[in-house]
Amino acid sequence: MAERVAVIAGDGIGREVVPAAVAVLDRVGEFEFVEADAGDAVRDETGAALPAETRALAASADATLFGAAGETAADVILPLRRAVDAFANVRPARAYPGVDALQPETDLVFVRENTEGVYAGIENEIAAGVTTLTRVVTAAASRRLADFGFEYAAEGGYDVTVAHKANVMGVTDGQFLAAVRAVADERGAAHEEVLMDALATDLVMHPEDHGVVICPNLAGDVLSDLAAGLVGGLGLLPSANVGPERALFEPVHGSAPDIAGEGTANPAATILSAAMLLEYLDHEEAAARVREAVTTVLAGGPRTPDLGGSATTEAVTEAVFARL
Ligand code: NAI
Ligand code: MG
Repeated sequence: MAERVAVIAGDGIGREVVPAAVAVLDRVGEFEFVEADAGDAVRDETGAALPAETRALAASADATLFGAAGETAADVILPLRRAVDAFANVRPARAYPGVDALQPETDLVFVRENTEGVYAGIENEIAAGVTTLTRVVTAAASRRLADFGFEYAAEGGYDVTVAHKANVMGVTDGQFLAAVRAVADERGAAHEEVLMDALATDLVMHPEDHGVVICPNLAGDVLSDLAAGLVGGLGLLPSANVGPERALFEPVHGSAPDIAGEGTANPAATILSAAMLLEYLDHEEAAARVREAVTTVLAGGPRTPDLGGSATTEAVTEAVFARL
């Protein structure tokens, strides 16, 4: 039976890059695509940015491909990630031959805690002018993430760097670090522990010294966007939100209202997200073909304006098709 893939294009350029990625998936595999709405446009129509049936679809599909939401992003993507119990957010940041990158040696994969930390959503105003935020770090979530990160690194032949700030947040990041060390011990795996602020500097100056970066939620959000800057921009970064039973794939970028509707959005991030989806569903060979096609097109063009070219989303997608 064909695997069921939920397709949620969302807003802005999500509606341009998701169809491109779906066409690629359709070309290399046999899937049952089920489309659903989410984002600003649905909110304006119905009052709810994430309709219950969209959430239910993501919670039951074999995998979900999501584009981007606009100002309702937090109301859409956070519940969607919860719907698939996505505990790990995987964000590869690779420099591609032919693409102007600040650091052409970059080959990083951020494995980011996706359920807690300072994004647990516990904020309060406890008195006028006094606000607080509660950071949640559990041994179970830290362990589950570390296990996933070390496994991913072992499979891909990457070194492991762990980002933390246990010198200041001794209790919460202390626990995070203890979980990582325990997993490393059990696996007999090496890892390097780096304070997250110092790591920001090192990633800019020596990204080639790092591979898989296991990090708490906020640190992973910030450091992966920093890495996008090293490799040529947000149009190139795919991501996976992986849960125990299912997963959701999305470009790291947002709805890009500044270019939406022009037909010039770079589809690479979303097509590469589709390649991660293929890999997750054990279609390794198809995933490799898609990655190779994207890499070839990035190297030789055509390229969209964000990469210095003048090609449309459609022309780039056609070129990827031709390489498949
Ligand atoms: P953004 O990622 O949408 O855009 C940042 C810059 O990168 C813009 O100049 C944009 O044109 C460019 N860019 C992004 N993706 C591109 C692509 N594929 N091809 C060419 N250029 C690309 O982030 P921004 O501007 O901060 O947010 C815009 C909207 O997107 C906001 O409403 C925000 O809430 C939402 N957002 C949604 C996310 C999601 O749904 N996961 C993630 C980030 C932002
Ligand atoms: Mg972000």
